[in-house]
Amino acid sequence: MFRPFSSGVRPGWASICGALVPPLALFGVVAAHDNAIMNQLSDELMAWYQKFPFPEYQPGGMNLPQVSIDSSLCHVSVTKWMKEAGVARGSDERKHRCGGLTADTVMKSVQMLNEMADKGTFEATTKAAPIVATCMGCHSTAVEPLTHGKENCMSCHGSKLINLEDCQTHGHLL
Ligand code: HEC
Ligand code: HEC
Repeated sequence: MFRPFSSGVRPGWASICGALVPPLALFGVVAAHDNAIMNQLSDELMAWYQKFPFPEYQPGGMNLPQVSIDSSLCHVSVTKWMKEAGVARGSDERKHRCGGLTADTVMKSVQMLNEMADKGTFEATTKAAPIVATCMGCHSTAVEPLTHGKENCMSCHGSKLINLEDCQTHGHLL
């Protein structure tokens, strides 16, 4: 049986947000003739996703908080939003949020593809978080340890994360 694309193909792992996978795959088909255009489309969608205060589309009329997440990871996206909204994972609010987010992402992808169809090319205008250029100025090729990526480095390397070593409840687990 056909497995629903895309959260169905990575059950419960909460890695890349499932709303991003189908459009990214589609760009690979629609712009297969030109790698540069394909990359511009993907760069635009990924950078836009980091910043956009989801969900804009809210047909349920729940007046859900719109929160910009700064990560393309499902785990970060859903969890940060639930904290902000003060709701649980099984709640209708959370379901409507992810549904609205998916609609917003489809809308953005279609607008981008329309622009590409009209102009015959596509240029990304949304940029990764500025800190990425700062960090990668050293860590992409110049200074060891080398790494790669365009996600906001601070969402993982920043100081606001829970440090288990400093946590009374969890320190003994390490
Ligand atoms: C001016 C160059 C420079 C910039 C800019 C820079 N780093 Fe580094 N980074 C280094 C050097 C040199 C090391 C290795 C020596 C050390 O560990 O201090 C390092 C080590 C690291 C390490 C491994 C060691 C550790 O401390 O955990 C991480 C992770 C890291 N950098 C992340 C970042 C992030 C995230 C940014 C952007 C906020 C950044 N770096 C910006 C030069 C830089
Ligand atoms: C989703 C979380 C996440 C994001 C986003 C992220 N990192 Fe990391 N990074 C990690 C983890 C986890 C490691 C492995 C740390 C370890 O093993 O100590 C790592 C390792 C590194 C290392 C090597 C550290 C070493 O000791 O060798 C560097 C350098 C680094 N990251 C820089 C960056 C930069 C620059 C960015 C932004 C472009 C970035 N990271 C974004 C989670 C992240």
